[in-house]
Amino acid sequence: MEKFRRIGILTSGGDAPGMNACYRAAARCCLARGIVVYGIKEGYKGLIEDNMKLVTSTIDVNNLINRSGTVLYTARCDEFKTEDGMQKAIAVCKKNQIDGIIAIGGDGTFRGATDLSERGIPTIGIPGTIDNDIPASDYTIGFDTAVNTVISMVDRLRDTCESHARCDVVEVMGHWSGNIAVYAGIATGAIATAIKELPFDEAKAMEDIKRARLAGKRSFIVIVSEGLKGFAEPLAQRIQEQTGVETKFCRLAHVQRGGTPTLRDRVMATRMGVEAVDQLLKGQSNVVVCELDGKITTVGIERALKVDRYFKGKCTPEELAAFKPEEMKWIQERSDYVKSTMQMLYTIANEVKA
Ligand code: F6P
Repeated sequence: MEKFRRIGILTSGGDAPGMNACYRAAARCCLARGIVVYGIKEGYKGLIEDNMKLVTSTIDVNNLINRSGTVLYTARCDEFKTEDGMQKAIAVCKKNQIDGIIAIGGDGTFRGATDLSERGIPTIGIPGTIDNDIPASDYTIGFDTAVNTVISMVDRLRDTCESHARCDVVEVMGHWSGNIAVYAGIATGAIATAIKELPFDEAKAMEDIKRARLAGKRSFIVIVSEGLKGFAEPLAQRIQEQTGVETKFCRLAHVQRGGTPTLRDRVMATRMGVEAVDQLLKGQSNVVVCELDGKITTVGIERALKVDRYFKGKCTPEELAAFKPEEMKWIQERSDYVKSTMQMLYTIANEVKA
């Protein structure tokens, strides 16, 4: 407890609704425990450049629970990936007497966090990305808001598709994960959903559209995850050619990253922010706050990064050989669980339709 005098909080990577709520909760928690807190601007770049703001009172983090984007801003920082950059960041921490960091973001953010931890600055990660693509955690801050944004946009498309008897192929975000797509596919009643992780039966989708049209259905929505690079737009063209249904293409893009955070994101962000402060004060470092089986807990960042690489098929044979048996067991089980959940949602998305 005594060790911590000052904590710095940063957001890094793509912004996500709820990041501000998380910053607010962690900052207020620090203030309540008599710890000085700094908001570090523009992620690791701000840490290197000593760009940070002292949070003087709870008023400084006022009206943030409902605000999207990140008031701390975010930036890419290649310099931080170098030893030189890292040492600059550590020097800035020492100069400002910052002896703990909370880093909110995705896998890239956690890589930076583990580098800092290993160099003597205790750092805790919090998963914040709309993609929900951190396999060590069941949930990442921003996902619920993003999927709700997709739902409300697609409902609008549905209105006009119904009027004109059209189909709309909608590309949603998720560079590495089809999570947004499968949830949105189910929740918007899409006739077909395509993601990178699992095979898409295009011929069946065409047949389904033709059959439903013959049965009198006027409007169709097809959801495609952006992980399938360059797939959605030509698919729209093929649907029009092969089914005779006029088909438009729509890429929702960055609109998915904005918008008022939902209940789930506000509460999850707050719980995770408080947990990160508690963990730092308990002497924890180099861990990421996760939601597992409905509980807020922590997983070692190294392990979280390993399961991430394993899940995405990025591990080299040397890396795999170096995993300890107990670690490998957890990584495999976790990875299998995330995969089977995706498979289950994908099946539902493509089976429950007109
Ligand atoms: O926030 C995650 C994500 O939305 C990914 O799905 C997407 O590939 C990426 O960010 C794009 O972000 P940017 O355009 O800011 O690089």
